[in-house]
Amino acid sequence: MTHDFAQNFSLAGRTVLITGASSGIGAHLARVAAHAGARVVLTARRVDKLAQVAKDIEWDCGQALSVELDVTDRGSVEAAFDTAQAHFGVVDVVLNNAGIGNGQRPLEISEEQWRAMLSTNLDGVWRVAQVAAQRLATAGRSGSIVNVASILGLRVGTGYSHYSAAKAGVVQLTKSLALELARYNIRVNAIAPGYFKTEMNQAFFEGEKGSNYIRDLIPMRRLGQLHELAGPFLLLASDAGAFMTGSVLAVDGGHLVSSV
Ligand code: NAI
Repeated sequence: MTHDFAQNFSLAGRTVLITGASSGIGAHLARVAAHAGARVVLTARRVDKLAQVAKDIEWDCGQALSVELDVTDRGSVEAAFDTAQAHFGVVDVVLNNAGIGNGQRPLEISEEQWRAMLSTNLDGVWRVAQVAAQRLATAGRSGSIVNVASILGLRVGTGYSHYSAAKAGVVQLTKSLALELARYNIRVNAIAPGYFKTEMNQAFFEGEKGSNYIRDLIPMRRLGQLHELAGPFLLLASDAGAFMTGSVLAVDGGHLVSSV
């Protein structure tokens, strides 16, 4: 056992693949992983959007590879892992972050919109986790899968029935995979963020309704800042969390414990 506690959070020598790395939480945590010493595989549907993140990482002397990956397409996921593996070796850590999040009233959600939500936010997480785990198991390597759920996977909110159902699925998937993949030394945990201002919700939180919401419902009376996800992510991704699997960490300014 090492008593160098900071060292336990290191990702040196690890290959970390991040889905939806072109913006928001994924782009930020890609930079965090690189700072922690990882070789980072940035993935998104449009590789050109990853250029700035890759540049930042390389500027800091990190190693980054940009690869096209659409989480709704099995062939695309397999191909991205092939490319990652050819460049950096087997992927040790996955941040399953890609997601969509448009609000919609339950009576108005179409079949197509429901499918798109489930297909990206739940099926996509399953698909990427399964491909990662298959390759780790084949290689006989330990690994860590970090799924990005949401506080809406644990509670509900107006306009998000499809999103909540998908994210609740991510929470249960995380726990089930943790149970079954422990024998392969693959840990599976989730982060359940509260509200962080990103492209997904910027318009809402910049309006009056958004600021009232923050004041009334988030005990800490503010949105999260992206850097506040770094600690929870590194804990779950690195050896610092070596005995953690099946955990769902809320990072939400107390939103889940707001008064009823
Ligand atoms: P964002 O919109 O900036 O990032 C989402 C990323 O996923 C984008 O890069 C997008 O291109 C990518 N993506 C969407 N569909 C994809 C697909 N089929 N294949 C590959 N990539 C795809 O939003 P944000 O906020 O950074 O979201 C990241 C994750 O965090 C999502 O899973 C979201 O549900 C979750 N989350 C965000 C919260 C917030 O307050 N921002 C709160 C709770 C959860």
